[in-house]
Amino acid sequence: MPKSRTRFVCQQCGGEQTKWLGRCPDCGAWNTLEEVSLPEMPASGAATPQRRYALLTGAAASAGASAAPAVPQPLPQVKALSHDRLSVGYAEMDRVLGGGLVPGSLTLVGGEPGIGKSTLLLQVSGYIAEQVGPVLYVSGEESSEQIKMRAERLEISGERLYLLATVELEVICEAIARLKPALVVIDSIQTVFATHLTSAPGSISQVRECTLHLMQVAKSSHIPMFIIGHVTKEGTVAGPKALEHIADCVLYLEGERYHTYRLLRGVKNRFGATHEVGVFEMHGEGLQEVPNPSALFLSERPGAASGSAVVVSMEGTRPLLVEVQALVTPSNFGIARCTANGIEHNRLLMLLAVLTKRVGLALGNHDVYTNVVGGFTLEEPAVDLGVAAAIASSYRDRRIPPDLALIGEVGLSGELRAVSRLGLRVREAAKLGFKRCLVPASARTERVRRELEEAGLAEECRVIPASTLAVALEIALH
Ligand code: TYD
Ligand code: MG
Repeated sequence: MPKSRTRFVCQQCGGEQTKWLGRCPDCGAWNTLEEVSLPEMPASGAATPQRRYALLTGAAASAGASAAPAVPQPLPQVKALSHDRLSVGYAEMDRVLGGGLVPGSLTLVGGEPGIGKSTLLLQVSGYIAEQVGPVLYVSGEESSEQIKMRAERLEISGERLYLLATVELEVICEAIARLKPALVVIDSIQTVFATHLTSAPGSISQVRECTLHLMQVAKSSHIPMFIIGHVTKEGTVAGPKALEHIADCVLYLEGERYHTYRLLRGVKNRFGATHEVGVFEMHGEGLQEVPNPSALFLSERPGAASGSAVVVSMEGTRPLLVEVQALVTPSNFGIARCTANGIEHNRLLMLLAVLTKRVGLALGNHDVYTNVVGGFTLEEPAVDLGVAAAIASSYRDRRIPPDLALIGEVGLSGELRAVSRLGLRVREAAKLGFKRCLVPASARTERVRRELEEAGLAEECRVIPASTLAVALEIALH
């Protein structure tokens, strides 16, 4: 009996079933299964789970394209890919990519509509077209004329920048085969559809099949590809979330609509470190990179106000200095409110508990509001000390000296715990003119101090160790 060549895929979670069901057994959503036909594969072991998995992860994409039987090979015999990485023209973006674009890689650029994905990738396309070779920019959202208008505004006039306004996967693949470009940009994956599937463009099955197919093309032709994907807050459109495991790199462009900063955040990278962040600013002439974001984030700091602290957070391999603000006010209605903007809510609750129990601040009947300036999100525990100090500063209405940076994780007993890369953080603070750094007391601190002395920075930035939060607050707010 011929094997079934279709699957039923949940439009919510992407779970696969062999038959139609009213309710998805994986995520419990009703009426979300849609029929999807599987991509054509060589007859041998066509639709085995292993083969599908290999396809999904891209491991056998090139093997699949050449129809060679997959035979285990000893490691030394595997041909190494060339390591030449392609610069995209922005040092900030190159770093997020792990040092540039890898040939044949598929990079997903996600973000909310209107955040600047098309702008960024059109600028990258302009650079590659000028410096390297032809670029194919496929847009299913805008006409070629619209893109040209935008390109004129961005002052891009590449002879070798080819625009293609289409939504059909087959047309795109044909154009790639004909043009053999140095880079392909697909804007956006939600508009692309393969005609052999019946589901609508933007549905999870279309998005996934099209991405898998493009992945195969990228891997077999060694052409790097950028794929733009929209994410909406409601998650109604099949979003990049479902594609993250397919792509080699996943970048998110984030920012607040009313701020001009845009953060390009790497969440997955098969060729480099993740959690790198590149900072850009949106201008009238497109996105411009911000080479020294700490200085930008600190530029609007109020000098004399209480409740403001500067923390040093590692974003990937780069330390970033950011201002944290807190406001503590007596609560009016007997129920204390606690708002965390840019830091995790549970982490804030924990810090409030430690401040109450170990430091003795009577925060119980106070509203606490915290905010990270610049729309940044801080996830590292190393910012604990700064957040706690900002809260204590507002509560006591005493300001933290503006030349003091705070680094340290707070434990439940009120102790300060060592953080990674302390030396790097302190040096970055020194570079930005901070005269003192309050840090956890540990063996590492001594080493950092010696390093600073050797680098001739000990005079410029003093390291002050503290073993507990209470001691640290005494120093910061004396
Ligand atoms: P866009 O790249 O179209 O967003 P996306 O592709 O992520 O949906 O960016 C749209 C926004 O960027 C729009 O609100 C206008 C703004 N913008 C500028 O401020 N300056 C510019 O030079 C450009 C091209 C766009
Ligand atoms: Mg766009």
